[in-house]
Amino acid sequence: MTELIEELPTGIMLADEAGAITYANRAALEYMGIDHDGLKGVNVNEVVRQGSGKKDLIFRTKGDERITVRLGRVTLSGGNQAIILTDVSEIYRLEQELLKMDKLATVGELTSGIAHEIRNPLAGIKTTAQALKEEIPENDTRSAYISRIIIEVDRLNKLLLSFFDFARPKKLNVRPCDLKKTIEDTVFMVREAARSNHVRIMEFYPPGEVRIKADPDMVQQVLMNVFINAVQSMPSGGSMEVHLREQGANVEISVSDTGKGIPENIRSRIFDPFFTTKPKGIGLGLSISYRLVKMHSGNITFSSSPEGTLFTISLPKEAGK
Ligand SMILES: Nc1ncnc2c1ncn2[C@@H]1O[C@H](COP(=O)(O)OP(=O)(O)OP(=O)(O)O)[C@@H](O)[C@H]1O
Ligand SMILES: [Mg+2]
Repeated sequence: MTELIEELPTGIMLADEAGAITYANRAALEYMGIDHDGLKGVNVNEVVRQGSGKKDLIFRTKGDERITVRLGRVTLSGGNQAIILTDVSEIYRLEQELLKMDKLATVGELTSGIAHEIRNPLAGIKTTAQALKEEIPENDTRSAYISRIIIEVDRLNKLLLSFFDFARPKKLNVRPCDLKKTIEDTVFMVREAARSNHVRIMEFYPPGEVRIKADPDMVQQVLMNVFINAVQSMPSGGSMEVHLREQGANVEISVSDTGKGIPENIRSRIFDPFFTTKPKGIGLGLSISYRLVKMHSGNITFSSSPEGTLFTISLPKEAGK
């Protein structure tokens, strides 16, 4: 019986009335990241405040992994108490992910409604401005003003298009493709922007083709957003490295820059729609990318320091399955 409790995958601790721990099984010690000796310093009544029935705590275990543990307390006869520790990290992570997806969907519906209403009057302004421009002789200085109107209308139109993209992402068209070629094509598209920022691009690919099943247009869109962000993070030059690796059933694309990094206090928000720190940014690049990667059952993560940022996109080779 005691052996069974010791080996249970759920953490169990027993404590006396004062909160001093008298017993903890292996899982409990593992969750709390301490050994038997460490138990002496722990008081259960401090960990689970009096009266609170359930509580989620984030522990850093010995392996330095962060886990979320749900604590439940049961009072036993004689004033003793049992504390049950359940690892709910996975549930917690899924909950957070669902919240994020939900938020994206709501914002999407909202923007597509507004964007639609703006498009028509905008088209009217543009046609009128064009007509006016034709009426005025080209050497007239006022012609430049009208050109300005047209340029700004085009800019707004572009903005609206990205709203639409965000609101109604097209259905995935999963097909066999060469991921290496998709990456190379996308790198080609940002070369000019990189050059004007004095950014050197270095590419590291395995030899031969890297065949996967995915929607290459969507993958390109994701890469484009990440590349552009990298280039924009280095306004006074630097280098961007693109690596492609095959890892079992997955492929991993990593994009590093030597830019200014992402300050710690905004790291949890960069995938939020409309979160931007750029004067001319919309803040949709990463939230669209996040959604597209998730649609492929993949993952997009990053790490950052003041020396630069590394984005990693991992995709299953057979996203269509
Ligand atoms: N490589 C990077 N280096 C530094 N900061 C970054 C990097 N990538 C993203 N960020 C930060 O994350 C924010 C959100 O990025 P996101 O691509 O979603 O929007 P944006 O680039 O600001 O605007 P948009 O992509 O819509 O033009 C950026 O404003 C920036 O602060
Ligand atoms: Mg961006």
